[in-house]
Amino acid sequence: MSIVADHLKLIRPSETKAMTARANALKAEGKEVITLSQGEPDFDTPDNVGEAGIRAIRDGRTRYTAVAGVVPLREAIRDKLLRENDLGYTLDQITVGCGAKQIVFNALFASLNPGDEVVIPSPCWVSYPDMVRLAGGTPVMVDCAEADGFKMKPEDLERAIGARTKWLMLNSPSNPTGAVYSEADLIGLAEVLRRHPHVWVLADDIYEKLVYGSARFATMARAAPDLFNRTLTVNGVSKTNAMTGWRVGYGAGPIELIKAMNVIQGQTTSHTSSISQYAAIEAIAGDQTYVPRFVAEFEKRRDLIVAKLNLASGLSCSVPDGAFYVFPNCAGVLGRRTASSKLIATDTDFAMYLLEEAGVAVVPGSGFLASPYIRISYASSVEELTKACDRIVDACGKLSEEKAA
Ligand SMILES: Cc1ncc(COP(=O)(O)O)c(C=O)c1O
Repeated sequence: MSIVADHLKLIRPSETKAMTARANALKAEGKEVITLSQGEPDFDTPDNVGEAGIRAIRDGRTRYTAVAGVVPLREAIRDKLLRENDLGYTLDQITVGCGAKQIVFNALFASLNPGDEVVIPSPCWVSYPDMVRLAGGTPVMVDCAEADGFKMKPEDLERAIGARTKWLMLNSPSNPTGAVYSEADLIGLAEVLRRHPHVWVLADDIYEKLVYGSARFATMARAAPDLFNRTLTVNGVSKTNAMTGWRVGYGAGPIELIKAMNVIQGQTTSHTSSISQYAAIEAIAGDQTYVPRFVAEFEKRRDLIVAKLNLASGLSCSVPDGAFYVFPNCAGVLGRRTASSKLIATDTDFAMYLLEEAGVAVVPGSGFLASPYIRISYASSVEELTKACDRIVDACGKLSEEKAA
C-alpha cells in the first residue's frame, strides 16, 4: 500500500516550478540559463518594508498572533480596500494568510462539498483547478480565446453554470495571459451571475497594481455592488511590493465565509509569520512611491519583449494589459524540426528546445491548460530580457522551414 494518499493523484506538481528546477539543474552543470519562468518580481523588497520586518524582530513581535492576522494589519487592509477600491469591510470580514495562495485554498476548502463545481476561465493559474480538486470539488474549465483577449464572455459563463456551481474564479490582471477585465467586462459577467444567486465570485486581484497604458483595474465587488455579499476579494503584497518570500496575502468577504476560512487556518498554519505581518503593514499603509517606478519599469520591459518576440519566426505575441507575463502563440513553430532533426510537436517540446538550445527557461502553455503557447515572465532586467529574446529569435530561426506532414 502506498504511503501517498489517493487525492494526490488528482493534482500534479506546478509546471512553473518544474521548469525552474530543470533550469537550475542545467545551471548547476555550468550552463548559462536565463530564467524567465518565475512568477515573481526581480526587485528587492523595498527598504522601508524590510526595516519594518527587522523592527518587528527587535520589538519582540515574534509570538503567535490571532489566526486572522494582527489587528493593525487588518486595519491597514480595511483602509486600503476602502481608499483604493471603494469597498467597505469590517475587521472580522478580513483574514490574512500565507500568501494569496493559502487564502484561495482556505476559501475552497471551507466551501466546497464533494461534487461542487468551480468555473475557471482558462488559460489560468494551474493552482486553481488543482486546489479545487484537492478540496473535493470539480473544476469546470471555460476556454477563452486569444481573439477575445483571453477573457471569458458572458455567454460562456452562462453555459458553464449548473446547479452545483459554487464559485466563479476570476483573476485580473491574469496569470498567465496578462489579460485585464474592464469594469464593463465585469458588469457583463455580473448580469449572468444575477440570474444564478447560488454562485459566488472569487476575485483574485493579486496583480491589481500592474496595469499599463489605458487599461484600468476593476474588481467585481465594486463593479457589481449587489454581488458584494457573495464575493471574496483576494489580494496580497507578493507581486506589488516585491514580497513573494514573506508570504502575506489576504481575503475580504462575508463573515460566515471568513470565519470558516479562519477555522481551517487555525488548524493548519495558524497564521502567517508575525514578522511578515508587521512588514506588510508598512507595505500597505507606508510609503509606496516605489510602486509607480516598478509599474513603469514593467511597462517598458513589456513593450521591449513584445516587439522582440514578434521578430521570431513562428511566434506571434499580443500586447497584454497587465501583470508581468506575455503569452505568445507558438503554433507557427509546431511541426518544425530542430537542427538535430527533433520534431517540435507541442509547446512543451518548444519550451524544452528553448531551454536546451537557447538557454532560456519559459513555461509551456500546457502548464496553464492552454496550447500552443508559452508564458514568459518579464520580471527580469532589460539586459537579460534583451539577451533572452535575441536567443529565442535565433533559436526559432534555426528550426526547419518546412512543416512536417
Ligand atoms: C494568479 C495568482 N494568484 C495568486 C498567486 C499567489 O500569490 P502569493 O505569493 O500571495 O501566494 C499567484 C502567484 O503566482 C498568482 O499568479
